[in-house]
Amino acid sequence: METPIFAPSILSADFCDIRAAIADIESSHCPWIHLDVMDGRFVPPITFGSKMVGDIRASTELFLDVHLMVEEPDRHVHAFIESGADAITFHQEACVHSHRLLQRIREARKSAGISIVPSTPISSIIHLLPFLDQVLIMTVNPGYGGQELLPFCLEKVKDLAAIRTAQKLSFKIAIDGGVNIRTLSRIALSRPDILVMGSAFFNAKNKKEMVDNMRHQWIKAIENKDSVH
Ligand code: DX5
Ligand code: ZN
Repeated sequence: METPIFAPSILSADFCDIRAAIADIESSHCPWIHLDVMDGRFVPPITFGSKMVGDIRASTELFLDVHLMVEEPDRHVHAFIESGADAITFHQEACVHSHRLLQRIREARKSAGISIVPSTPISSIIHLLPFLDQVLIMTVNPGYGGQELLPFCLEKVKDLAAIRTAQKLSFKIAIDGGVNIRTLSRIALSRPDILVMGSAFFNAKNKKEMVDNMRHQWIKAIENKDSVH
Protein backbone atom coordinates (compact mmCIF):
# COMPACT_ATOMS: atom_id res chain seq x y z
CA MET A 1 0.00 0.00 0.00
CA GLU A 2 1.23 3.45 -0.86
CA THR A 3 1.98 5.73 2.04
CA PRO A 4 2.06 9.52 1.74
CA ILE A 5 5.14 11.59 1.03
CA PHE A 6 6.67 12.66 4.33
CA ALA A 7 8.06 16.19 4.12
CA PRO A 8 9.95 17.20 7.28
CA SER A 9 10.02 20.96 7.83
CA ILE A 10 13.35 22.39 8.93
CA LEU A 11 11.44 25.06 10.86
CA SER A 12 11.89 22.84 13.91
CA ALA A 13 15.53 21.98 13.18
CA ASP A 14 18.59 23.56 14.79
CA PHE A 15 19.35 26.45 12.40
CA CYS A 16 23.01 26.18 13.42
CA ASP A 17 23.16 22.68 12.07
CA ILE A 18 21.11 22.42 8.90
CA ARG A 19 23.52 19.85 7.45
CA ALA A 20 22.61 17.46 10.27
CA ALA A 21 18.91 18.14 9.63
CA ILE A 22 19.34 17.24 5.95
CA ALA A 23 21.22 14.07 6.89
CA ASP A 24 18.40 13.09 9.30
CA ILE A 25 15.79 13.60 6.59
CA GLU A 26 17.80 11.56 4.09
CA SER A 27 18.50 8.70 6.48
CA SER A 28 14.79 8.52 7.41
CA HIS A 29 13.98 7.96 3.71
CA CYS A 30 11.81 11.06 3.46
CA PRO A 31 11.98 12.27 -0.15
CA TRP A 32 11.06 15.93 0.46
CA ILE A 33 12.31 18.81 2.61
CA HIS A 34 9.70 21.43 3.46
CA LEU A 35 11.12 24.96 3.71
CA ASP A 36 9.01 27.48 5.61
CA VAL A 37 9.77 31.02 4.45
CA MET A 38 8.20 33.65 6.74
CA ASP A 39 8.43 37.41 6.28
CA GLY A 40 7.25 38.85 9.61
CA ARG A 41 4.22 40.32 7.82
CA PHE A 42 2.01 37.54 6.50
CA VAL A 43 2.93 35.70 9.69
CA PRO A 44 4.68 37.26 12.71
CA PRO A 45 8.03 35.40 12.61
CA ILE A 46 10.87 35.83 10.12
CA THR A 47 12.72 32.66 9.14
CA PHE A 48 14.99 32.63 6.07
CA GLY A 49 15.07 33.47 2.38
CA SER A 50 16.27 32.18 -0.97
CA LYS A 51 19.95 32.00 -0.01
CA MET A 52 19.15 29.30 2.52
CA VAL A 53 17.25 27.36 -0.16
CA GLY A 54 20.19 27.73 -2.58
CA ASP A 55 22.68 26.50 0.00
CA ILE A 56 20.48 23.52 0.81
CA ARG A 57 20.11 22.84 -2.93
CA ALA A 58 23.89 22.57 -3.16
CA SER A 59 23.93 20.00 -0.34
CA THR A 60 21.19 17.53 -1.28
CA GLU A 61 19.26 15.89 -4.08
CA LEU A 62 16.05 15.82 -2.01
CA PHE A 63 12.95 17.51 -3.44
CA LEU A 64 12.86 21.07 -2.08
CA ASP A 65 9.33 22.13 -1.24
CA VAL A 66 9.23 25.87 -0.53
CA HIS A 67 6.24 27.23 1.41
CA LEU A 68 6.12 31.01 1.10
CA MET A 69 4.30 32.59 4.04
CA VAL A 70 4.94 36.08 2.72
CA GLU A 71 2.96 39.09 1.56
CA GLU A 72 3.25 39.92 -2.15
CA PRO A 73 4.75 36.55 -3.11
CA ASP A 74 5.01 37.70 -6.75
CA ARG A 75 7.93 39.93 -5.66
CA HIS A 76 9.86 36.95 -4.31
CA VAL A 77 9.07 33.99 -6.53
CA HIS A 78 11.87 34.71 -9.01
CA ALA A 79 14.56 34.43 -6.32
CA PHE A 80 13.22 31.06 -5.18
CA ILE A 81 13.05 29.77 -8.75
CA GLU A 82 16.70 30.76 -9.16
CA SER A 83 17.65 29.14 -5.85
CA GLY A 84 16.84 25.68 -7.21
CA ALA A 85 13.57 24.99 -5.38
CA ASP A 86 11.53 22.14 -6.89
CA ALA A 87 8.09 23.30 -5.74
CA ILE A 88 6.92 26.76 -4.81
CA THR A 89 3.72 27.25 -2.85
CA PHE A 90 2.31 30.65 -1.95
CA HIS A 91 -0.78 31.74 -0.05
CA GLN A 92 -4.00 32.59 -1.81
CA GLU A 93 -4.68 35.14 0.98
CA ALA A 94 -1.47 37.02 0.14
CA CYS A 95 -1.85 37.28 -3.63
CA VAL A 96 -4.36 39.04 -5.89
CA HIS A 97 -3.21 37.62 -9.23
CA SER A 98 -2.71 34.01 -8.18
CA HIS A 99 -3.41 32.59 -11.62
CA ARG A 100 -0.67 34.69 -13.19
CA LEU A 101 1.80 33.69 -10.50
CA LEU A 102 1.01 30.00 -10.90
CA GLN A 103 1.71 30.31 -14.59
CA ARG A 104 5.07 31.98 -13.90
CA ILE A 105 6.06 29.13 -11.59
CA ARG A 106 5.06 26.51 -14.12
CA GLU A 107 6.80 28.32 -16.97
CA ALA A 108 9.98 27.98 -14.92
CA ARG A 109 9.25 24.21 -14.84
CA LYS A 110 8.69 24.13 -11.10
CA SER A 111 5.75 22.53 -9.31
CA ALA A 112 3.21 25.22 -8.53
CA GLY A 113 1.27 25.21 -5.29
CA ILE A 114 -1.27 27.30 -3.43
CA SER A 115 -1.91 27.17 0.28
CA ILE A 116 -4.97 28.23 2.24
CA VAL A 117 -5.15 29.01 5.97
CA PRO A 118 -7.81 27.31 8.15
CA SER A 119 -10.35 30.14 7.75
CA THR A 120 -10.16 30.19 3.93
CA PRO A 121 -12.65 27.92 2.13
CA ILE A 122 -11.59 25.73 -0.78
CA SER A 123 -14.11 27.59 -2.95
CA SER A 124 -11.56 30.45 -3.06
CA ILE A 125 -9.25 28.37 -5.26
CA ILE A 126 -11.81 26.32 -7.15
CA HIS A 127 -11.09 27.89 -10.55
CA LEU A 128 -7.35 27.54 -10.10
CA LEU A 129 -7.31 23.78 -9.60
CA PRO A 130 -6.40 22.92 -13.23
CA PHE A 131 -3.30 25.12 -12.92
CA LEU A 132 -2.01 23.55 -9.72
CA ASP A 133 0.46 20.78 -9.00
CA GLN A 134 -0.30 20.84 -5.30
CA VAL A 135 -2.66 22.36 -2.77
CA LEU A 136 -1.34 22.87 0.75
CA ILE A 137 -4.16 22.80 3.29
CA MET A 138 -2.95 24.43 6.49
CA THR A 139 -4.16 22.40 9.45
CA VAL A 140 -2.98 25.05 11.94
CA ASN A 141 -2.88 28.83 11.69
CA PRO A 142 0.50 29.37 10.03
CA GLY A 143 3.52 30.88 11.72
CA TYR A 144 4.65 28.42 14.36
CA GLY A 145 5.58 24.79 14.76
CA GLY A 146 4.19 22.60 17.51
CA GLN A 147 0.53 23.65 17.37
CA GLU A 148 -2.51 21.35 17.65
CA LEU A 149 -4.08 20.17 14.41
CA LEU A 150 -7.50 21.73 13.69
CA PRO A 151 -9.70 18.76 12.71
CA PHE A 152 -12.18 20.82 10.68
CA CYS A 153 -9.40 21.44 8.14
CA LEU A 154 -9.37 17.73 7.32
CA GLU A 155 -12.90 18.14 5.96
CA LYS A 156 -11.39 20.45 3.36
CA VAL A 157 -8.97 17.69 2.36
CA LYS A 158 -11.85 15.25 1.81
CA ASP A 159 -13.91 17.79 -0.14
CA LEU A 160 -10.95 18.74 -2.31
CA ALA A 161 -10.16 15.10 -3.07
CA ALA A 162 -13.77 14.58 -4.17
CA ILE A 163 -13.56 17.60 -6.50
CA ARG A 164 -10.27 16.32 -7.89
CA THR A 165 -11.86 12.98 -8.76
CA ALA A 166 -14.96 14.60 -10.25
CA GLN A 167 -12.87 16.94 -12.41
CA LYS A 168 -10.29 14.25 -13.30
CA LEU A 169 -7.42 16.42 -12.06
CA SER A 170 -4.13 15.21 -10.64
CA PHE A 171 -2.81 17.84 -8.22
CA LYS A 172 -1.47 16.56 -4.91
CA ILE A 173 -3.00 17.49 -1.58
CA ALA A 174 -0.66 18.31 1.30
CA ILE A 175 -1.44 19.08 4.90
CA ASP A 176 0.74 21.20 7.16
CA GLY A 177 0.53 21.61 10.91
CA GLY A 178 0.00 19.30 13.87
CA VAL A 179 0.95 16.09 12.09
CA ASN A 180 2.21 13.52 14.61
CA ILE A 181 1.72 9.93 15.73
CA ARG A 182 -1.30 10.99 17.82
CA THR A 183 -3.17 12.72 15.01
CA LEU A 184 -2.14 10.36 12.20
CA SER A 185 -5.07 7.90 12.28
CA ARG A 186 -7.52 10.75 12.00
CA ILE A 187 -5.49 12.32 9.20
CA ALA A 188 -5.34 9.01 7.32
CA LEU A 189 -9.13 9.01 6.96
CA SER A 190 -8.94 12.10 4.76
CA ARG A 191 -6.06 10.61 2.67
CA PRO A 192 -3.77 13.57 1.92
CA ASP A 193 -0.83 12.79 -0.42
CA ILE A 194 1.82 14.77 1.43
CA LEU A 195 2.36 15.16 5.17
CA VAL A 196 4.46 18.11 6.29
CA MET A 197 5.92 17.47 9.71
CA GLY A 198 8.06 19.82 11.78
CA SER A 199 8.21 19.31 15.53
CA ALA A 200 7.16 15.63 15.47
CA PHE A 201 10.14 14.81 13.24
CA PHE A 202 12.82 16.95 14.84
CA ASN A 203 11.76 16.21 18.43
CA ALA A 204 11.96 12.47 17.81
CA LYS A 205 15.07 10.80 19.23
CA ASN A 206 15.11 8.15 16.54
CA LYS A 207 13.73 9.87 13.46
CA LYS A 208 13.85 6.91 11.11
CA GLU A 209 11.99 4.73 13.61
CA MET A 210 9.38 7.45 14.06
CA VAL A 211 8.75 7.78 10.31
CA ASP A 212 8.58 3.97 9.97
CA ASN A 213 6.02 3.90 12.79
CA MET A 214 4.00 6.58 11.07
CA ARG A 215 3.99 4.54 7.85
CA HIS A 216 2.80 1.42 9.71
CA GLN A 217 0.13 3.33 11.56
CA TRP A 218 -1.06 4.86 8.29
CA ILE A 219 -1.49 1.44 6.68
CA LYS A 220 -3.31 0.11 9.77
CA ALA A 221 -5.69 3.10 9.81
CA ILE A 222 -6.57 2.66 6.14
CA GLU A 223 -7.05 -1.10 6.52
CA ASN A 224 -9.32 -0.58 9.55
CA LYS A 225 -11.35 1.97 7.66
CA ASP A 226 -11.74 -0.34 4.67
CA SER A 227 -12.83 -3.25 6.88
CA VAL A 228 -15.51 -1.05 8.53
CA HIS A 229 -17.01 0.07 5.21
C1 DX5 B 1 3.74 26.41 10.22
C2 DX5 B 1 4.56 25.83 9.10
C3 DX5 B 1 4.74 24.38 9.23
C4 DX5 B 1 5.41 23.91 10.50
C5 DX5 B 1 4.65 22.74 10.98
O1 DX5 B 1 3.24 27.63 9.92
O2 DX5 B 1 4.00 26.10 7.83
O3 DX5 B 1 5.37 23.80 8.08
O4 DX5 B 1 6.76 23.57 10.36
O5 DX5 B 1 5.10 22.39 12.23
P1 DX5 B 1 4.44 21.24 13.11
O6 DX5 B 1 4.58 19.96 12.31
O7 DX5 B 1 5.27 21.26 14.35
O8 DX5 B 1 3.01 21.60 13.35
ZN1 ZN C 1 4.86 24.93 6.01
